Amino acid sequence: MSHAEDHEGTRRDFLYYATAGAGAVTAGAAIWPLVNQMNPSADVQAMSSIRVDVSGVETGTQITVKFLGKPVFIRRRTEEEIEQARAVELADLVDAGAENSNLNADATAIDENRTMDEAGEWLVMMGVCTHLGCVPLGNNSGDFNGWFCPCHGSHYDTAGRIRKGPAPRNLPIPLAEFVDETTIKLG
Ligand code: FES
Repeated sequence: MSHAEDHEGTRRDFLYYATAGAGAVTAGAAIWPLVNQMNPSADVQAMSSIRVDVSGVETGTQITVKFLGKPVFIRRRTEEEIEQARAVELADLVDAGAENSNLNADATAIDENRTMDEAGEWLVMMGVCTHLGCVPLGNNSGDFNGWFCPCHGSHYDTAGRIRKGPAPRNLPIPLAEFVDETTIKLG
């Protein structure tokens, strides 16, 4: 083999490994919450509550913050999203429980039991799919205009309630409260 051929072969190998590496990174990102959940580091465990400034969150957008090593979605819903969520009957839900740490365990999953405020503008929930722990895609994704988990095809509605796919439960709502007009305390 000439030197030139040898060089070409090395370059092809490099391209192959670079591509394989990119795939591995994507898969790693998808399972990150589950892994992190099992191995919380000391600094993550120590930070049991955080304050989030939501003054810059426009209607129809969301931010993701990291809390206790997991992503938390904070969404400021549009009127349309609120109306869609409130039009749903409990009987149509896969999981009729609120899954809201701020309420009693027997609270139902009506939209009013999922949101931070009475008007239903603020929705705060763990960004971890209840199937196997991937991070769902947001911003009106999936068949129900809410969140979609591409790992195995779970669709959540505009209140983060599971509507279709293998996930068994609504996206859980962590302990959260407004401590002033523009600050949400998690934990
Ligand atoms: S982890 Fe979300 S559908 Fe499987």
